[in-house]
Amino acid sequence: MNKTAPESSPAKVKFFSGENIPLELHKVRVVQKLNLVPVERRLAAIAEAGFNTFQLGTSDVYLDMLTDSGTNAMSDAQTASMMQADDAYAGSQSFVRLQSAVEDVFGKKYLLPAHQGRATENVISQAFVKPGSIIPMNYHFTTTLAHITRNGGEVVEILADDALQIQSTKPFKGNMDIGKLEAVIAKHGAAKIPFIRMEASTNLIGGQPFSIANLREVRRVADKHGIMLVLDASLIGENAYFVKQREDEFKTASVATILRELCDLADIVYFSARKVSSSRGGGICTNRKELFDTMKSLIVLYEGFLTYGGISVREIESMAVGLRETTDESVISQSPSFIEYLVGRLQALGIPVVTPAGGLGCHVDARGFLPHIPQKDYPAGALASAFYLASGVRGMERGTVSSVRDAQGNDILADAELLRLAFPRRVFTLSQTKYVEDRLHWLYQNRELIGGIHFVEEPEVLRFFNGRLAANSDWPQKLAAKFRADFGDSL
Ligand code: F0G
Repeated sequence: MNKTAPESSPAKVKFFSGENIPLELHKVRVVQKLNLVPVERRLAAIAEAGFNTFQLGTSDVYLDMLTDSGTNAMSDAQTASMMQADDAYAGSQSFVRLQSAVEDVFGKKYLLPAHQGRATENVISQAFVKPGSIIPMNYHFTTTLAHITRNGGEVVEILADDALQIQSTKPFKGNMDIGKLEAVIAKHGAAKIPFIRMEASTNLIGGQPFSIANLREVRRVADKHGIMLVLDASLIGENAYFVKQREDEFKTASVATILRELCDLADIVYFSARKVSSSRGGGICTNRKELFDTMKSLIVLYEGFLTYGGISVREIESMAVGLRETTDESVISQSPSFIEYLVGRLQALGIPVVTPAGGLGCHVDARGFLPHIPQKDYPAGALASAFYLASGVRGMERGTVSSVRDAQGNDILADAELLRLAFPRRVFTLSQTKYVEDRLHWLYQNRELIGGIHFVEEPEVLRFFNGRLAANSDWPQKLAAKFRADFGDSL
C-alpha cells in the first residue's frame, strides 16, 4: 500500500458548451439495485414510519440521501486493503497502518480509535467537561450537544450574526466570531472553558466551512488564554476543498497541505470515519501525550483495546486508505460539485436553498418553501415527508424536530429549518440528481398542499432518530392524489 498521500488531481473539467456539469472522475464497477415504489406505497410507508425518514426501510427508498455517514462509495483500493487485515486483539498491524495514515494526513502522532464519531465525543466530554463548563463553538452538532450537556457542560455558539442567513454569498459561514469569543471568555473566565470546539464544514448550518485565517485567529485567542482547541474533523476534507476554492492564500496549495494546516492548529482532532474516510469507525488524535493519556482509559472502558477501539480490523484498513484518499482533490471534490450543481439548478427554479452551496448535501430552506407552516408544526419534517412522498427520495430533517425542549418543556425552535439531501461521495449519478431537481420542482409547484406534523411519540434524548409523528390533516393523501393526477401511471 502506498504510504504517502496520492497526488491531488484537478477537480474541475470545463465543458466546451460552457455548461457547469460535475464530471464523475471514477467509474462504477459494483452496483446495487434500487427500488422506486409507487406513490401509493410511499404514502403508506411514510405513515408507517411516523413521518420520520429515519424510520423508513431502504426497500421503500429510491435514492437514500439521508446522510453521507457510512454510505460513501468505497474505492477498489479500500476494498482490497480489507483483505490484508491483521486480526488481533492487541498490537494489530492494521492499527499501525491506520496510525501512519493519521500521522501523514492529520499530522498527529497519538491516535485513539473509537467505534464512531459520537463515541469520540463521549470520551472527550467525559475527560474534559465538568458541571458548569462552558464550551464555545462555531455551531453545535446534535450528538456533540447531547454529550456535552450530559456531562454538565453548556454549549455557546459564536457564529457571525449573518452566518444563519439562508441565502448568502459569504464564503465562510462556519467562521467563529472572534469578538464574541473574546466576550464569552471575559464573561465566564478561561478556567471554566476546557476547550473551544471548531467544526469543519459546519453540519447543521448547511455544511458551511470556516477559513484557515479564522482558525488561526481562534488559535491566537485560545493561546492567549491557555485554552485547548478541539477540531471536529468529520467533514474536514470538504472544508479543505472549500479553502482551496475560496481562500486566496491557498489557491495553489494541495488539499493535503491544507488539511495539515487545519489540523496543525488544533490540540485535539476528532472525527467520524463514517464520514471522513467513507468506512466505519472514528478517532481522536493529538500530539500532546498528556491529553492522550487522559483519554486512553476511557477508550478501553467504552470502546475496546487501544489498537481496535470497537472497529473491526477490516474497517481499520479501509479507514486508513480512505483517509489518504481524502487528500485527493478529484475524490474530495465529487460531493461538493454535485451539491453545487443541484443548488444552482434549484436556485434557477426559484426554490429556496442554502447558499453558497456547502458540503455534505443540498439544504432546502423549509421556511422559505413552506411559509404557511409555522415552526411549531415542524416545516422541515413536513417537507422531508412530502418530498419522500413525491419522489421516493429520503432526505433528513434538520430543524426543530432535531432540536430539544427547554426546562419548561417547550420546543427550542431551530435557527434554521432545513431539508438536507445528502450526497454521499461518488454514489449518485447526474440523471439521479436531475430526478431530485425535477421532483422538488413539482413539489414546489404544489407546496400549498403540504401541511404540518406533530409528535405522537417523543424520546427524551436525540428524539429525531426514533420519534414518531403524524400529519395534522389529510394533506399527505391529497398530495399523493395530486401526484397520481399529474404523473398518470408513472412511478
Ligand atoms: N460530528 C459531526 C460534524 C457529524 O456530522 C457527525 C455525524 C458526528 C460528529 C457524529 O459521528 O455519526 O459517526 O457518531 N453526522 C452524521 C450526519 C450522523 O448524518 O450528519 P457518528
